[in-house]
Amino acid sequence: MLIDGHGRTVNYLRISLTERCNFRCQYCMPEKPFSWVPKENLLSFEELFLFVKVGIDEGITKIRLTGGEPLLREGLDGFIKMIHDYKPDIDLALTTNAFLLSSVAQKLKDAGLKRLNISLDSLKPDVVAKIAGKDVLAPVLKGIDKALEVGLGVKINMVPLKGINDNEIVDVMEYCMERKIKIRFIEYMENRHANESLRGMHGREILEKVKEKYTIHALGREGASPSFNYSIEENGYEFGLIDPHKHDFCENCNRIRLTAEGHLIPCLYFDEAMSIAKSVKEGDIEGASQVLAQVLRDKPKENRWTEDDPSKEKEISSRAFYETGG
Ligand code: GTP
Ligand code: 5AD
Ligand code: SF4
Repeated sequence: MLIDGHGRTVNYLRISLTERCNFRCQYCMPEKPFSWVPKENLLSFEELFLFVKVGIDEGITKIRLTGGEPLLREGLDGFIKMIHDYKPDIDLALTTNAFLLSSVAQKLKDAGLKRLNISLDSLKPDVVAKIAGKDVLAPVLKGIDKALEVGLGVKINMVPLKGINDNEIVDVMEYCMERKIKIRFIEYMENRHANESLRGMHGREILEKVKEKYTIHALGREGASPSFNYSIEENGYEFGLIDPHKHDFCENCNRIRLTAEGHLIPCLYFDEAMSIAKSVKEGDIEGASQVLAQVLRDKPKENRWTEDDPSKEKEISSRAFYETGG
């Protein structure tokens, strides 16, 4: 079992497979970054898999592949199969923008992928184009349909932004309701890479919008998830709210993050990280395990978001969401 320096059990590994992305979401990567990590610095799937095996052997039971956009990484289904074959009962999931999903959903499912979390911020083509930087709604919706058709679990992530998609909170939720899939509203997390003019919505404001149409009941947190769940009285539908400005989920935090370059990150919003690159390139299982142990010892108690002054965070971490995979 993997236990961190604050006594928390860590069983969830998020792996960002690439920082590259085919979208330019205003809250994440509004412009193409000045420089990408050179391709030769990316760990190969074989190298990543060596670390995955160390993690699984020591207690990881849930792996989520993220990006950037993970579907941009060639051979992804082969990597999924490697993990699945090593531990078939692992909770193996992917977070994607779904642009490329419709043509690969079946292949990913066959390789052993169980679940997908998909970003959907609006149902209006022009609003999606404004947020994502290109006209992508149709392929995204097609990707969602295909994922459901092949039997993959699907959750939707929506980031409500003032004056942009805040009037669509109920519409996007009802789209999910009709398909019996869960939506999680995510409070916009300020970061220095995002478009500075964005104004996020507080969790309370998001719930107010839902309450204009429905009666809701608080259900509570699902294990160590950052999502707080609610149910709708009228039809029993359940949705989630991810509100990182409150850090009450940090006390149960169960996750670590690995970047495509091999940086093992103990917390989303801290610059601290240690590299496993050298160990995995040398096939040094013991070395990788030692880095993992050190990162767990150093895992911070809570993130540094504050409700009072969200702008403070901008000074704290320079790491982009597209590097850590959110
Ligand atoms: P499930 O396994 O389905 O519960 O997914 P998940 O919520 O772990 O993954 P997803 O990639 O969909 O992340 C949803 C949002 O939660 C993203 O915006 C993440 O940045 C945010 N998030 C996930 N983990 C953390 C965390 O440890 N701290 C903070 N502040 N935000 C997090
Ligand atoms: N604030 C909140 N959510 C974000 N995401 C990316 N950047 C941000 C941000 N600044 C979300 C995406 C995706 C998830 C992994 O992270 O919408 O669904
Ligand atoms: Fe790409 Fe996801 Fe960032 Fe949007 S939020 S730019 S889809 S990595």
